[in-house]
Amino acid sequence: MKKITISTLMAWKQEGRKFASATAYDASFAQLFEEQEMPVLLVGDSLGMVLQGKSDTLSVTIDEIAYHTRSVRAGSPNSLLMADMPFMSFATPEEACKNAAVLMQAGANMVKVEGGAWLADTITMLTQRAVPVCAHLGLTPQSINIFGGFKIQGREEEKAEQMVQDALALEKAGAQVILLECVPKALAARITDAVRVPVIGIGAGNATDGQILVMHDMFGISANYIPRFSKNYLKETGDMRLAVSRYIEEVASGEFPGPEQTFN
Ligand code: KIV
Ligand code: NA
Repeated sequence: MKKITISTLMAWKQEGRKFASATAYDASFAQLFEEQEMPVLLVGDSLGMVLQGKSDTLSVTIDEIAYHTRSVRAGSPNSLLMADMPFMSFATPEEACKNAAVLMQAGANMVKVEGGAWLADTITMLTQRAVPVCAHLGLTPQSINIFGGFKIQGREEEKAEQMVQDALALEKAGAQVILLECVPKALAARITDAVRVPVIGIGAGNATDGQILVMHDMFGISANYIPRFSKNYLKETGDMRLAVSRYIEEVASGEFPGPEQTFN
């Protein structure tokens, strides 16, 4: 696979070419993903759930994300590697810079932060200091104690409009990718049209530019529960490499996510 950069994703958005991505936490799976030409990998703070067996992501630390980022980078030199900024690691722009540096030095190409327009200053500060940023909107799992559970976001028109405004504000602040989790398909489509940067969805329907799955969900082996919006590709194919290539193909064709995995 040739080196994937933000320019690659921007070109794909303009061409209307849909792309897959996945979480990864270690070198062996990162290499398997790279061999199947998975262009984007994320070291997600979902590692608190799928690797550590916790019921949420709040206890994950910057050093844990950095450790897994080094491993994934070793297995996948050419993917665009995103790393999650964990809970409270970007409470102020200054802390965000200090913590983002740890992840970039571990091999990330971009960091991901959860939150709306209040993050604009943080995102500007990071991008001015050469840290590319993905802004995660919708169901932001670090806010589970505010939401009162893992619930779909943006169902009411007022909340939907707010999310569109958040996406525009964060793009203006310098975010180069937007990630939408658990939002109705129509809202995800609206945001994908409204911004110039690539939009990656999970539980957001098939109108976004890219898709992402937690790798353990893709293989149907997650420790706690498997969300409705994901799909067990291992069950379908019986082989991990085939599972990954089937997922990549179904994203490219628009077949995944289908109606069963979509909120309306
Ligand atoms: O931590 C994670 O795996 C994520 C994805 C679900 C987008 O943030
Ligand atoms: Na995350």
